[in-house]
Amino acid sequence: MQRIVILTGAGLSAESGLGTFRDKDGLWTKYDLEDVATPEGFARNPALVHEFYNARRANCLEAMPNPAHLALARLQHAWPDRVTLVTQNVDDLLERAGAASVIHMHGELTRALCGACAHRWAAPAVMAPKDPCPACAAPETRPDIVWFGEFPYHMARIDAALAQADLFVAIGTSGNVYPAAGFVQEASLAGARTLELNLEPSATASMFDAARFGPASKVVPDWVSEVLREGVP
Ligand code: OAD
Repeated sequence: MQRIVILTGAGLSAESGLGTFRDKDGLWTKYDLEDVATPEGFARNPALVHEFYNARRANCLEAMPNPAHLALARLQHAWPDRVTLVTQNVDDLLERAGAASVIHMHGELTRALCGACAHRWAAPAVMAPKDPCPACAAPETRPDIVWFGEFPYHMARIDAALAQADLFVAIGTSGNVYPAAGFVQEASLAGARTLELNLEPSATASMFDAARFGPASKVVPDWVSEVLREGVP
């Protein structure tokens, strides 16, 4: 049985109207990531951090899955035991496209986390610094997002999938943030073939066996149709 591990990044959701981070006009050109995506930034100014994620949650609610999300959901439905979807994205567009199982290694906008007792619950549309935890009542509510300096979620599960992969595909990610940027090498060392689907070559482009460049809404459905028709190359 041929297994595929797919890693997605912000480029997958770009055409749904959600900004990427490092492109021209990307989120990190407007905000300092030290302020809004680190535990230290949250300790300094929790209101600013909540404002940032409240705005992103609102954008996400308005956004719709694009043909790339729908194609990946179609692939996972066709081959549920063979396709592992890992995303760095904190939006829920893959789930709303119908994907049954998505590993969110950087957390989810739709979830809240208590900084005191680690309880997790469904995030309200608007979160504020003094919101009490529904379990322990500590006023330390934060978005359930993995910030720089924190450990990504589900790494054991991801490493196990990479070790068994026959094909690793990275979609719409710039290859700048580890550990995700290291998955291509990890999969390669474990014997998988590797493919990059992106608008332009990523920072790790030279590590992939093959690449296709173009907007995700075009290259992803084309690739999925080909794989479903012809099998894993
Ligand atoms: P980046 O913003 O770093 O990279 C986005 C990638 O998507 C780039 O390679 C673009 O060329 C590509 N791209 C843009 N539009 C596209 C389109 N329409 N179709 C296909 N590709 C397109 O985003 P990520 O690599 O996801 O983490 O960033 C990784 C992590 O850094 C994020 O999860 C986030 C960020 O800081 C945290 O906040 C912890």
